[in-house]
Amino acid sequence: MKLREPVALVHLRRTPMGKLGGQLAALEPYELLARALAPVALATGVRPDDVLVGNVRNSIGNIARVGALAAGLPETVPATTIDRQCASSLEAVAVAAARLNAGLGEAFLVGGVESASRCPWLFEKTTRPFAYQEPRPYRVRLATDEAGDPPMGEIAELLADEFAITREAMDAFAAESHRRAAAAHGSGALAEEIVTLELPGRKGGTTRVDRDETVRTDTSAEQLAALRPVFRRDGRVTAGNSSPLSDGAAACVVASRAACERHGWTPDAWLTGITTVALAPPRMGMGPALAIPRLLEACGLALDDVDLVEINEAFAAQILAVLSEYPVPSGRLNVHGGAVALGHPFGATGVRLLATLTGAMKRRGARRGVASLCIGGGQGMAVLIERT
Ligand SMILES: CC(C)(COP(=O)(O)OP(=O)(O)OC[C@H]1O[C@@H](n2cnc3c(N)ncnc32)[C@H](O)[C@@H]1OP(=O)(O)O)[C@@H](O)C(=O)NCCC(=O)NCCS
Repeated sequence: MKLREPVALVHLRRTPMGKLGGQLAALEPYELLARALAPVALATGVRPDDVLVGNVRNSIGNIARVGALAAGLPETVPATTIDRQCASSLEAVAVAAARLNAGLGEAFLVGGVESASRCPWLFEKTTRPFAYQEPRPYRVRLATDEAGDPPMGEIAELLADEFAITREAMDAFAAESHRRAAAAHGSGALAEEIVTLELPGRKGGTTRVDRDETVRTDTSAEQLAALRPVFRRDGRVTAGNSSPLSDGAAACVVASRAACERHGWTPDAWLTGITTVALAPPRMGMGPALAIPRLLEACGLALDDVDLVEINEAFAAQILAVLSEYPVPSGRLNVHGGAVALGHPFGATGVRLLATLTGAMKRRGARRGVASLCIGGGQGMAVLIERT
């Protein structure tokens, strides 16, 4: 759908990414969120109408509220957490945009967070009072059994089967994602979007963190080919051609034109269109192949009118399946690498995609960009952004 009025995306920022148990694991999820919200609030001086935060697995207790308080926002600023799985923070941006278009506010602090490292384990409780049972893991459902609810890795394998995607093609895609991300770090192309973190050092003092721990500068086709499949014994999906489980947070201000003028904010980009779609849960990886053309049609555009596209790389198999059905030229897709290299902290990835996309658009003088994700449970989302 095309928004009635474009809304401004201001000061898009993200933390560096951490691996599971890696450089950000010492931070509690709300602290990680605060590390993204605080610099955006400070740089813009925003007094938001609300704080809207995407999160998938750390949110029991409204992490948006806890993170906002930890970021130093006044107690009188409200906050809420949004779950649209991998598109949660993009949904938070969409909620802010809808509220702005409805006249229900002028500026929102929007973000997302995920700490795979600090994700809680959940267990079934007994249904009878005072009864005891051996601990049994609680199954988090993304769909009903009737609709189909395979694990994520199996979904990638199913798409690889359906579109006859070879292991070589997946590994080549993964190697290119790391190559692009390493090049983007090397050239300073990611420096603006990443906030440098000062974390307590192991032996006292502080450690400065400004690099994505997930990006491998040394990966090669041979190394990738040597990895074993992780989800099926005879499968093709490996740790190397999947997005890694990650820690990270991202934030921005979503504001009206009037608020930008009043505060002197220069938007990174204007959000002009938003589309959400749904499909069979086991084919959830195909979400972008439905969402992007539907978005562009609603906005009266063709893919050729779009300069740069960011599609989340949940798995190399998944994005290659999307490209089989909806080809996007490689030179316009994920030009700074994607989630296979940059990581996929579920709740934060939507805003991370916008930060990376606008960064690339600025450097190339691009006018239009599309960001899109597949969503667990069988959905997809795409947004159109423009720079004047
Ligand atoms: C695939 C998955 C299970 C792998 O988990 P893991 O085993 O903890 O992954 P690791 O990063 O430790 O990789 C295992 C080993 O593979 C090797 N490896 C991984 N990527 C590599 C690469 N690009 N090049 C060379 N070796 C690589 C390494 O030996 C690594 O160990 P090391 O980093 O200690 O040297 C996990 O990342 C996962 O579940 N990803 C998918 C997340 C998901 O479902 N997302 C939702 C999508 S909607």
